[in-house]
Amino acid sequence: MNDRLIYLDNAATTFPKPREVLDKMLETYIRVGVSPGRGSYDLAMQVEDIVGEARKKLARFFGAPDPNRVVFTANATDALNLAFSGLLQPGDHVITTRLEHNSVLRPLHHFQERGWITCDHVPFDCKGFVDPNEILLCIKPNTRIVVVTHASNVLGTVQPVEEIGRLCAGRGIPLIIDASQSAGKIPIDMTALQVSAVAFTGHKAFYGPTGTGGLVIHPDLDIKASRFGGTGVDSKSLVHTSSYPHRLEPGTINLMGIIGLSAGIDFITQKGLAAIHRQEMTLLRQLRDGLSDLKHVDIYCADDLSNHVAVLSTNVNGVNPADVGDILDGDYHIAVRVGLHCAPLVHHDLGTINGGSVRFSLGIFNTQEDIDQAIKAMASMRSRS
Ligand SMILES: Cc1ncc(COP(=O)(O)O)c(C=O)c1O
Repeated sequence: MNDRLIYLDNAATTFPKPREVLDKMLETYIRVGVSPGRGSYDLAMQVEDIVGEARKKLARFFGAPDPNRVVFTANATDALNLAFSGLLQPGDHVITTRLEHNSVLRPLHHFQERGWITCDHVPFDCKGFVDPNEILLCIKPNTRIVVVTHASNVLGTVQPVEEIGRLCAGRGIPLIIDASQSAGKIPIDMTALQVSAVAFTGHKAFYGPTGTGGLVIHPDLDIKASRFGGTGVDSKSLVHTSSYPHRLEPGTINLMGIIGLSAGIDFITQKGLAAIHRQEMTLLRQLRDGLSDLKHVDIYCADDLSNHVAVLSTNVNGVNPADVGDILDGDYHIAVRVGLHCAPLVHHDLGTINGGSVRFSLGIFNTQEDIDQAIKAMASMRSRS
């Protein structure tokens, strides 16, 4: 058994976090850890600048025209809830996909169950992709938004967002993407892609801490506030602030988290997104090829890795995914995620709803040696199948 943990659960959260990120968080928080956006003393202004720089960095990263429309949230789930609550009205129709994570499915289900909205879930094909024409077929006069996961957290497939964006823009329907598995891995220019809002999380491929994320909103879209409180702006008024980002950011923001998120973006920018993606996909190809040689292992939607991030779902014939996870952990010190990965409709359609799958997800710190070990460990399961 390896002494060293082989961490292949980076789609859940990247681990470890870069030393640079952790050092920056501690050093900055020690130096300027006061309430941002509230005081007018020098230190409060300094920290407001740090937060403002983080907004600018994210706006640049996502091709967003206005940094003030980068709204910090607790995670991607929080950002998606903020978007849905601020956009949907009784009688609205929503189009989404069967690839979605529960962070999209459940809030929409909540609205649907109460009879407020109707919702269509567009299928994916045998390769793991949604056909934009299927979205087109679902459009109704009351379709308010289209919501699509950019990269599937189960299959790793990157959806044709550019085509979906063109189609939505042509009909004046805002497209919201869940970029939880793509932000930090592949470029996202929301203006070029004609995406109206991007929900992202900070603790995955941005290499920031948990408790960070955000909603980046194009100036063409207005999202109503659904939670209210102190913003440090126009405090005399009992009416909640309407200007961005305060409109959607009541209460004190997660300063230490935002410092870490900002440092994480510096970290990946310095390494280069394309270089990171290339490195991860080389390892994913090695894993896919190694596992393809094993007759007792099934692999889902990974024949062609050209529109993919480094996520691979597998199963061992005749062995429950939970048991595979236990063996990988207990006997080989390899951490993977098993089960449904919060995406039940994907597993319904793959025929894996009972146990889910064994998901390998790679990060910047993985090596060829890690992948060799993972293949060896999966090969050893032949005798158990
Ligand atoms: C596709 C997708 N969407 C949303 C989320 C939720 O992210 P968070 O837990 O940061 O809210 C995840 C996390 O696993 C995800 O993979």
